[in-house]
Amino acid sequence: MQKVKNRRVLSGIQSSGELHIGNYFGAIRQHIDFQKENECVYFVANLHAMTTIQDKKRLERGTLQVAIDYLALGLDPDKATLFIQSDIPEVTELAWILSTVTPLGLLERAHSYKDKISRGISPNHGLFAYPVLMAADILIYDSQIVPVGKDQKQHVEMTRDMALKLNNIYGETLTIPEEFIMPEVAVVPGIDGQKMSKSYGNTIDIFSDYKTLKQKIMSIVTDSTSLEAPKKPDKNTIYLLYKLFADPDEKTAMREKFLAGGYGYGHAKKELLEKISVYFQPARERRQRLLNEKDYVADVLRKGAHSAREKAEQVMSRVRHNCGLLKYGAISK
Ligand code: ADP
Ligand code: TRP
Repeated sequence: MQKVKNRRVLSGIQSSGELHIGNYFGAIRQHIDFQKENECVYFVANLHAMTTIQDKKRLERGTLQVAIDYLALGLDPDKATLFIQSDIPEVTELAWILSTVTPLGLLERAHSYKDKISRGISPNHGLFAYPVLMAADILIYDSQIVPVGKDQKQHVEMTRDMALKLNNIYGETLTIPEEFIMPEVAVVPGIDGQKMSKSYGNTIDIFSDYKTLKQKIMSIVTDSTSLEAPKKPDKNTIYLLYKLFADPDEKTAMREKFLAGGYGYGHAKKELLEKISVYFQPARERRQRLLNEKDYVADVLRKGAHSAREKAEQVMSRVRHNCGLLKYGAISK
């Protein structure tokens, strides 16, 4: 994996439902790892979520839930900045400015927009302009590295295009970010063997209770090979999931049991269940505490927003100045 060190790393997390173990191994774990050696800026993308969630309570709940889940999973607010996207109103100002240099054709080519339309979502302007807001999120903090999943790669490329275009017109103003694509190996299968995704309804959620977790694991789809027969571990969802949690000796042990035969899918599911349950136990306990410490969470988000806003204001001063936007109306000096 490409080494990322001493850089400003930024990523946004959509607040549209429970986090699952695909999100964890595909994104969250790397986000948290980056905080050791980089200046990390992470936010809950609630403005983006509004393109699909239009329910006050759901949006509020989802926003706080993602923030709490990230803290529970190890995001350290002393090392990384965590805040809510809408706490930085300047981001929508930059989105407008970027939209004036963004060709319509660029947005029309966005895969994720075309995808959503083809799934029957009736598009609003926000959905169409989604990549412009995402570009503003990235550019407003002079971000250098943007770790995203493959599905978001095109959006980061579009961000680079928009920044280059603006710099071309107004002179050096915005920092061009590098993308950082999460490693391909991290594609986690869901209980039906397809890529785990909320939209396929095949997820194993990180914070579900033991009973639900058990139901999910027990419903992992397997073939009809008999208990006695040897089985191929590498094509087997249970083993593919187990590998994510187990140490090398444990992986070898399960592999050999499958290859030897006399080891059924039911046995393997039980081992997987215990592994997942134990793995997330500390995070589950932290999460329970955080749910009772609303003031602490609010304080983290307040401090995060304060620090992000300072940075955003610096970049916006530069942008306004270079683009010729006169500013007389500041409330504070
Ligand atoms: P979902 O597909 O459930 O809607 P998101 O698109 O919200 O998930 O994913 C958020 C992040 O988690 C993205 O960076 C994405 O690449 C990563 N991710 C989601 N599902 C998986 C998976 N099955 N394997 C690896 N990474 C995943
Ligand atoms: N669009 C991203 C997703 O769905 C979330 C996001 C919003 C984001 N703004 C961002 C990711 C800026 C990286 C950088 O996953």
